[in-house]
Amino acid sequence: MDLMEKLVSLCKRRGFIFPGSEIYGGLNGCWDYGPLGVELKRNLKQAWWDDMVAHHDELATLPGAPSPYGMAGLDSALLMNSKVWEASGHVGGFSDPMVDDRETRARYRADQLVVFKLAFVGAQSGETTVDDILFAAPGEVGKTADEELIAPHRKRIAALQKAHPGGQLRLDPVPNALGDEALRAKTLAPGASAPGTLTAPRAFNLMFKTHVGALEDNSSVTYLRPETAQGIFVNFKNVCDTTRVRVPFGIAQIGKAFRNEINPRNFTFRSREFEQMEIEFFCRPSEAGQWYQYWRKRRYEWYVELGMRREHLHLRDHDADELAHYAAGCADVEYDFPFGRSELEGIANRTDFDLRQHMQMSGKDLRYFDDQEPDPEARRYLPHVIEPSAGADRAALAFLCDAYSEDEVGGEPRTVLKLHPRLAPIKAAIFPLVKKDGMPEKALAIYSQLKKRFNVFYDEKGAIGRRYRRQDEAGTPYCITVDGDTLANDTVTVRERDSCAQTRVAANELGAMLAERCGG
Ligand code: GAP
Repeated sequence: MDLMEKLVSLCKRRGFIFPGSEIYGGLNGCWDYGPLGVELKRNLKQAWWDDMVAHHDELATLPGAPSPYGMAGLDSALLMNSKVWEASGHVGGFSDPMVDDRETRARYRADQLVVFKLAFVGAQSGETTVDDILFAAPGEVGKTADEELIAPHRKRIAALQKAHPGGQLRLDPVPNALGDEALRAKTLAPGASAPGTLTAPRAFNLMFKTHVGALEDNSSVTYLRPETAQGIFVNFKNVCDTTRVRVPFGIAQIGKAFRNEINPRNFTFRSREFEQMEIEFFCRPSEAGQWYQYWRKRRYEWYVELGMRREHLHLRDHDADELAHYAAGCADVEYDFPFGRSELEGIANRTDFDLRQHMQMSGKDLRYFDDQEPDPEARRYLPHVIEPSAGADRAALAFLCDAYSEDEVGGEPRTVLKLHPRLAPIKAAIFPLVKKDGMPEKALAIYSQLKKRFNVFYDEKGAIGRRYRRQDEAGTPYCITVDGDTLANDTVTVRERDSCAQTRVAANELGAMLAERCGG
């Protein structure tokens, strides 16, 4: 089993993440968070809110900011007037290129289908290229291993190999083959019996359409939001008018987003329903460059502060040809997932594009009024926007991947989730060493006391070693054991998950210890 398979199995077995609608065969791209998963995701979102919004100015990293700034929160409606999506460009442009297979009825994202031809290189045969047939397989050029690309066509490729004895197989990608009618006619799709079954790529809008009210006509069309960001832009004036925030400031929102992804894949990484944690940070146009640099670093460091290993985390600046036409800069925080390096969060300098679009479409003046600006000409202006946009599900997956570990304790193998205590679903488990001599009663009293402030767990069943290992797999950072000494001197054993080190702690200091280490 590779790491991803092990993680998916642990998530199912221990109640982190289940396939959505599982008893009906599931629904592709939809996932349900179980009892441990919901706690992990809530802790993650809470950590983001605490660090980015509630206590952002108490953090040591603030000195990196060009100047002090404000933050305000928002929870906007998920359904919005469809004009919002026209102004933002989503109705016209939020699409992926899609191809259909007329024979198998499978649908693919054109940019995620590698088309390749075969070459046989070898002493006996010299170099022979097979170019009467091209093969298409799901994957990404440069990222997907040759074996995976071969897998859907194994039989046919094995037959060709026989015809070129001694020849070593080479896969040569053919760029843009799907857009070319002649090349498409030669392309064999996965599972198809003959070449030429793929359609030309066409734009497929990723927004889920729905109707508001009883009438199902064009006037009632709206969309499930594909990002939380637009809810922030359309409330920019409301927040300015009702709070004391002054530019520079950010508006933050956490909430569900929906995208009808053509190929949801890699567990929760690309889902059709997911949660975003977004900030739109409004600043003076002349300061946008400095704030962009600040947020690039600030967001990268946030993952490190929560225990993610730096060697797995990368900050990649987009090349000029990757940028949207309105963007002045964009960087991705990328993580080395088991399936390859991929985007965790994007930080973009969106200039004044969104506010300008909404100002034009709505006819409302969305300019900011700076009453302390001495120059009357410069008092009203459209701020520029830096947008750090993170996915809660993707971050949860990355933290799970980073935390998953296998080692040996006392000669026995164990699986352990080394989650940061702030993220851990259960903060501590409380055990009586044995089920007698007043130990369960004392352990239950400690449990009830801690339960008022923390998500703690009580367990008295089975050998103590097994109880430890169950908690290691759930990512619980501390196990508190009540033993004979507890009854004599009111101290307990605290076992730390990662090192397995045990220390003696006074029972009445447990609350302070957990608060300091887990937050709360
Ligand atoms: N407002 C900007 C925006 O939405 P995005 O790069 O499309 O930008 C931001 O999305 C983040 O949302 C991504 O970095 C990722 O973490 C998360 N995300 C996007 N699509 C997703 C999907 N289909 N499944 C899970 N997370 C997704």
